[in-house]
Amino acid sequence: MKIIQHIFKDIKLHRLFLDLSLLSAKISLAMIMATFRMIVPCSMKRLIGETVLITGAGHGLGRELAIQLSSMGCIIVCWDNDIDSNRSTMREVSKNGGEVYGFVVDVSKRMEVRETVRLMRKVGVPDVTMLINNAAILYHKPYLSFDSDDVEKTFNINVLSNFWTIEAFLPMMLMKGSGHIVAINSMCGIYGVSQKVAYCSSKFAVRGLMEALHEEVRLDEKKPNIHFTTIYPFYIDTGLAKDPKYRFPYIFGVVTPEYAAREIIKAIRRNYTEYSIPRCLFSLNTINRIVPESVMRLILDFLADIDRKQKEKDTMNAKLDLIKT
Ligand SMILES: *[C@@H]1O[C@H](CO)[C@@H](O)[C@H](O)[C@H]1NC(C)=O
Ligand SMILES: *[C@@H]1O[C@H](CO)[C@@H](O)[C@H](O)[C@H]1NC(C)=O
Repeated sequence: MKIIQHIFKDIKLHRLFLDLSLLSAKISLAMIMATFRMIVPCSMKRLIGETVLITGAGHGLGRELAIQLSSMGCIIVCWDNDIDSNRSTMREVSKNGGEVYGFVVDVSKRMEVRETVRLMRKVGVPDVTMLINNAAILYHKPYLSFDSDDVEKTFNINVLSNFWTIEAFLPMMLMKGSGHIVAINSMCGIYGVSQKVAYCSSKFAVRGLMEALHEEVRLDEKKPNIHFTTIYPFYIDTGLAKDPKYRFPYIFGVVTPEYAAREIIKAIRRNYTEYSIPRCLFSLNTINRIVPESVMRLILDFLADIDRKQKEKDTMNAKLDLIKT
């Protein structure tokens, strides 16, 4: 009996040792591949013939994505809650000879999303092969001056809409075994930012949604070829946020929607899971998460030039006091 137990234990140990060796070999290989890919990026996939649905396509980044993707041979489906902006994007796309459809939808309403999908099928829009969740709103104000409406609207448009659109198009992607789901997130989905509590928490939520769903699809036994890409822009000039005025404007400056759209399309074509604009912000984030919190605060305050801003505020307040007295 003892001997059998011994052999059994031996086999188990043996097995563990084998598994560990295999794991370390795989890790080394993956590290080498990843390092190689950092130096030589993979080739970009062609997007010809994809049917791309973009929410919030009426203006800013959504509009720019529609125009650029159309010029690469994609069929574009514009969703926006504003009829006029829907028209202007569509006109721009079809002027360049692209195939484009437009629908007025409030993406925060599940029923409207469903109705629109039904309507799309009825009018013969091809099956959506790429979904870009771009629509979002941002309130910039101190936490205690939010009213419940602002918070609900933020979550309805920034988070729940993602559930409704994905729920509408994922089944077909799973059936076909291919597809691409893209979320336009924000650096506010990685760092909490003062006076943007509702926005930041909604963007953190989208990050969780994308990561968890990606994991679920990865473990699907049919191994569908569905890609997930989450984009973290720092600051795009779309009228959504005010200019943050950080140090090093070359890195932390405002980028145009044209530039941002080009970067996003590059990330999509390389099937990247996560991508920040500018790209180096992810490396900065990696460093920030390794160092102690006090050091991270020092770095962030330095980059945002908090001291100078505080001084400016103080002089401003002093002046106001003078005026008052
Ligand atoms: C969006 O605009 C286009 C072009 O003007 C129009 O044909 C289409 O009906 C609009 N969509 C809706 C749902 O209003
Ligand atoms: C991206 O995914 C598509 C579809 O699964 C695949 O055909 C293509 O080779 C991939 N491209 C890259 C660069 O990984």
